[in-house]
Parts: sequence; C-alpha cells; structure tokens
Amino acid sequence: MASISSNYLETGAGRAAGRVWSNLAGRPAFRRGRLPTISLMHAPTIAPGVPSDYYERIADVDARHWWYRGMLAIECAVLGERLSRPAQRLLDVGCGTGGFLRWAVESGRFASIAGADLGSDAIDFARRRVPEADLRVAPMRELPFADASFDLVVSHDVLQHVPEPEVDESLRELRRVLAPGGAVLLRTNGSRRLRVERDDWRAYSRDALAETLERAGLVCERVTYANLVLSLLAAARGRSPRAPSESSSGVPTADGRLKSAVGARLLAAEARWLSRAGRTVPFGHNLLALAVPGPG
Ligand SMILES: C[S@@+](CC[C@H](N)C(=O)[O-])C[C@H]1O[C@@H](n2cnc3c(N)ncnc32)[C@H](O)[C@@H]1O
Repeated sequence: MASISSNYLETGAGRAAGRVWSNLAGRPAFRRGRLPTISLMHAPTIAPGVPSDYYERIADVDARHWWYRGMLAIECAVLGERLSRPAQRLLDVGCGTGGFLRWAVESGRFASIAGADLGSDAIDFARRRVPEADLRVAPMRELPFADASFDLVVSHDVLQHVPEPEVDESLRELRRVLAPGGAVLLRTNGSRRLRVERDDWRAYSRDALAETLERAGLVCERVTYANLVLSLLAAARGRSPRAPSESSSGVPTADGRLKSAVGARLLAAEARWLSRAGRTVPFGHNLLALAVPGPG
C-alpha cells in the first residue's frame, strides 16, 4: 500500500477555507501582519472532488485496519520510554476523526488530550468519538493553544498536505506549543528523494524532513522510514505515494485476510526492530521523525 493521503486542501478554495477556519477557531486573522479575512457561518470543509463520505471512510478504518494498527505499534516503538512518562499533555495536530486520540484516551497514559484539524467535519466526528478531548478547528500554522502547553505533539500524515509557503511557520507552531523536555512525533510520506508533486503535496526524503524540522527550531532524535517490505514491493511495480486526485482519496480499503495478516506481521516486525533506541529502517513509503525543541 502506498501512503495514506487526503485531498481536501488541493484547491485555492481549500486554502481559503483554512484561513476562514482559523478565524472560526477564535484567532485574530490579522496576527503576524495578515489581512483580516471574512468569517462564514458555514465554511466548506472539503474541497471539490473528495467524496462527501471522506471522513466516514477514515473513521471506518482507522481503529481496525492493519496499516493503522501497525503504524501505531511503530510509533509506540519510536516513542519508547517517552510514552511512560507521567502526566503528559498530548496534542494531535490534523487529528482527523480522532482514531489516535481514542487510543490515547483508552491507553490511560496521558493527563490531558487535545486535537486540532482544519476540517470541521473531522472535528465533529472526533468530538463524538473522543468527548474527553479538547478539540479545535484550526490549521497547523495557527494552533489555538498557549506556548509550551504540551509534552507530546503528534501529527500523522498532515505535513505533506501543508501548502509549501506555510510549512515553516506550521512547524514553528508545533515548536511553540511544545513544553521544554517535550517531543514531536511526526509521520508523513516517505520517498528516497524529496518529491514535490504540487504546492500542497509532497513526499519527503529522510534528509529533507530532518532539514525542514531543523529550520523550525526542532532537533531530530530519530528519523526513520517505515513499511519497508510492502513499499519495496510497491516500488518494484512502479508504485509510489501520489498526490490525491478526484478518483483516489488515499483512504485504505479493507484488504483480504492474507494481505492483512502479512501486512500486520511485517509492521509488527518493524515495530520490534525500532523499539531499540537509535535503530532505523532504510526505506519505506512512510517516514517518521521524533524531534525535540532546539535551543532558543
Ligand atoms: C490523511 S488525514 C490524516 C488524519 C489523521 N491524522 C489520521 O492519521 O487518521 C490528514 C488530516 O490532516 C488535516 N489537515 C490537512 N492540512 C492541515 C493543516 N494545515 N492543519 C491542520 N490539519 C490539516 C485534514 O483535515 C485531515 O484530517
């Protein structure tokens, strides 16, 4: 399987909606010299071309599909002892329909749980699934949370969609809300070389992701590819992650028993490998970075 992607932000309309949503989230639109934008009662949540049941599709698979479960195990492995630290405050940026946040609540590991997503439909879903969480409609570049208010910030398959001109300020925003001693765990698309298909869609190489995070004042503790075997098989067949299109939302659909079982075992093996500090996986269509605040 290629990576999970989304395509609700593909158009100028989607980006404009993002600016409106940031207003709805209660942040002044003219912050940092921006011109005020107009608030709408009903902002569009999904750009044209995306199935209207997009978030339903994600919600349907994110708790039980082998890929999501395998990625969760890999993330826990990369986080290591950080997951056991007491009284941590968690933020999931681009939380979608709240699958990770539901797991976080049930794990009982966190003192408080919050999420933000550009899509108000996504947040509506997440509010139903995770009523315990503080959930906001907001873009990554303007998070409605105080400085240094989280110990762990995660973001899964969101960075690749952030429009190129907003990438640095969006990542600085993750850095801003991170408490001293905290960490960011970011998952995005992986590629051997940085591949920019559109202004709002790219696949990162390990080096490009590390450089991008470091520009935003974050220091990478570990950057690793993931999903090695299936990505190699896909690459051998000429397949790699692609920008979403009208005909392909990128949300995984149910696989047969064999593929699910094999996929689950392969990802579980990677999680075991990555559970040792410092280990990495050399290739994959998914890429994870664990980063901490740099000096200053
Ligand atoms: C591929 S989905 C992943 C959702 C969720 N993180 C998961 O793993 O299931 C990407 C999510 O990022 C959100 N998103 C995209 N660009 C964003 C941005 N600039 N700021 C905040 N959320 C964004 C989308 O609305 C969508 O819910």
